[in-house]
Amino acid sequence: MSERVIPLVDQRHPSLPLPTLMAGQDLSTLPLDGLRRPLTDLRISVTDRCNFRCSYCMPKEVFDKDYAYLPHSHLLSFEEITRIATVFVGRGVRKIRLTGGEPLLRKNIEILIEQLAALRTPDGQPLDLTLTTNGSLLARKAQSLKDAGLQRVTVSLDGLDDAVFRKMNDVDFPVADVLAGIEAARAAGLGPIKVNMVVKRGTNEHEILPMARHFRGTGIVLRFIEYMDVGATNGWCMDEVLPSAEVIRRLQTELPLVQLDPSVPGETAERWGYANAQGEFDSALGEVGVISSVTQAFCGDCNRARLSTEGRLYLCLFASQGYDLRQLLRDPTQNDHTLAQTVDAIWRGRTDQYSVLRGLRGPDMASGPGRRVEMSYIGG
Ligand code: GTP
Ligand code: 5AD
Ligand code: SF4
Ligand code: SF4
Repeated sequence: MSERVIPLVDQRHPSLPLPTLMAGQDLSTLPLDGLRRPLTDLRISVTDRCNFRCSYCMPKEVFDKDYAYLPHSHLLSFEEITRIATVFVGRGVRKIRLTGGEPLLRKNIEILIEQLAALRTPDGQPLDLTLTTNGSLLARKAQSLKDAGLQRVTVSLDGLDDAVFRKMNDVDFPVADVLAGIEAARAAGLGPIKVNMVVKRGTNEHEILPMARHFRGTGIVLRFIEYMDVGATNGWCMDEVLPSAEVIRRLQTELPLVQLDPSVPGETAERWGYANAQGEFDSALGEVGVISSVTQAFCGDCNRARLSTEGRLYLCLFASQGYDLRQLLRDPTQNDHTLAQTVDAIWRGRTDQYSVLRGLRGPDMASGPGRRVEMSYIGG
């Protein structure tokens, strides 16, 4: 039966031809892409399934009981993921984020985390190893994730009001359970914890201030994300985007903020610190972030590559096609050296800057031939 599913999935997202390797291709310098951006961040989707149906990501009408998720044989095994991750670390990657779908739905994810936690950069440093979760299984899993070697987590949470939250996850999941998950992550030492809130105008914008009040002074970094036109199923329209500048303006009406410098190059979030009575950043109150991929594209230093659940490498969140690395991982004529050469050649050919171009050309711009991949398939 699964054989029938395969061509369907492949047709939706045909893969790009792999680059032809030059004999003796040099690995002595780390690759820069066509816009001189390094490769430092790898996001690995470990499952295309999720137990939530957020309308901006996996709308129920599309991701229903008949939706063809990937069959198990299509997923990269933990050994394959660790092997390709090792190659990427050799080519400059310093941060690995596990995503999905919902990554905690992947069976025995702790085993993969153990393997990735053991990796070291060429100068002997451990990776920044993190995971994005909807928090629904976190209360149960936080300690085992920490024990496996996970450093920190980012939890998606779109509101504190139970009715609003249940509506946004669209499976009637109670907010209390996610809050319990965040608490368990904190108790287990999975920090610094970040909370990501996608803001949709007219849906959860009134949750901005309550969320800020709730997390201020807790050490948890709340980030407000502009609703993006990612994928092809969420029916995005500009009217539902609340620009980050407006989020900051609303926060400032009650909670004074000062802008902070980026903590690392290529950061997605603009950082704002809570101010004390003197108008200075008060570290005890902490900070918030805004991620403005619609109104202020941050492609200029985008250092992120994405590996889909079935082992395709995507160079942009808005891409419609990726490179089939699984084929190479399962090819006995390939070794880690040739894999590294392929990764370098792909990265060197990269010129993606979708959000910048969309800002110039308008929201109806196509990102390439074919239909854009879904975020649940390549990960946020
Ligand atoms: P930290 O290291 O914890 O700061 O992580 P991060 O901000 O790099 O990653 P995270 O997965 O938390 O990103 C938060 C959100 O920003 C995602 O869910 C996306 O909505 C958005 N985002 C992340 N990376 C990109 C990107 O490369 N392009 C665009 N357009 N949006 C992105
Ligand atoms: N716009 C912005 N962020 C999105 N995410 C998923 N879909 C979208 C979208 N359309 C991000 C959210 C969520 C993470 C798993 O993916 O940040 O927390
Ligand atoms: Fe699931 Fe996260 Fe997508 Fe919501 S945003 S459907 S929790 S993967
Ligand atoms: Fe990077 Fe593409 Fe996002 Fe721009 S739109 S920041 S190139 S992933």
